[in-house]
Amino acid sequence: MPLTRRSPCKVNFVLNLLGRRPDGFHELETLFFPVAAFDELTLEASDPGVALTCSHPELPVDASNLVHRAATAFLQAAGLADRTGVRLHLDKRLPLCAGLGAGSANAAVTLLGLNELLGQPLASVDLDRLAAGLGSDVNFFLQPGPALAFGRGERIEPLPSFTALRGHALLLFHPGFGVATPWAFRELTRFPHLRDGQPGRAAAAARRFLEGDVPGGVAHWFNALEGPVLEKHPLLALHQEFLLAHGAMGARMSGSGSTTFALFASEADARSAVGPFRAAFGEAGWLEVVRLDA
Ligand code: C5P
Repeated sequence: MPLTRRSPCKVNFVLNLLGRRPDGFHELETLFFPVAAFDELTLEASDPGVALTCSHPELPVDASNLVHRAATAFLQAAGLADRTGVRLHLDKRLPLCAGLGAGSANAAVTLLGLNELLGQPLASVDLDRLAAGLGSDVNFFLQPGPALAFGRGERIEPLPSFTALRGHALLLFHPGFGVATPWAFRELTRFPHLRDGQPGRAAAAARRFLEGDVPGGVAHWFNALEGPVLEKHPLLALHQEFLLAHGAMGARMSGSGSTTFALFASEADARSAVGPFRAAFGEAGWLEVVRLDA
């Protein structure tokens, strides 16, 4: 029987960088917030081997795809590669190179789905280890709620739901062009004050949301990668300004961009900004309003 699972995404309420590490990665602290906008992944046990198909023509389906790599790593770690394989189909609905972590979520859902499909051969510590080897954001998607993350982003501290955000809504907008994450990090050499931030910002924001202080939490939103990315793409700063002028409580870039997210007090408020936003910036690009039920 095939297994079908939704594969969510995230925004970073805080992305604070704490310096470049000897391995070339950046030490960071981030406040991840899960977003209920989804790709869909179908998994089915098969003869040995990994076979991936995808609805999106631009996404490679060979071993360079993170889903393919996750499946191969899982079967090897479980000692099953000689006996069992998997057929996977990825229905890609979320934008690529968007800063939403959708590809990382696809990899995490592959690990979780295979574990379910094949009778739970791996423990959660094994899944954590495999996730960290696949990418910096993958571990976050092994658990469902908001979380602080440290290190490269792979060391997760799960948080309780931000119940104060219930009934609010996020408006997400991806303009149709992406930002390459390695480029954004590389450019930080020109922004040393952003690359070498002070620790504590992510936890401070989380504390406000957990205390029920939504405006206080939003006031702590921060993304160091906005330095290089908004300089190259000033249009993204205009998206933020426009949404703030049309009722948003806060607006930021997610991850390395190019997605902007904005928080509204209600779904109705968010939807009332959509028409003026489209009138100002055109009909191109991916726009989604997500009601927060957490
Ligand atoms: O780990 P992931 O594949 O998501 O990272 C993509 C790229 O982003 C890395 O190759 C690196 O250039 C950069 N990066 C970084 N520091 C991090 C996470 C990512 O420099 N903590």
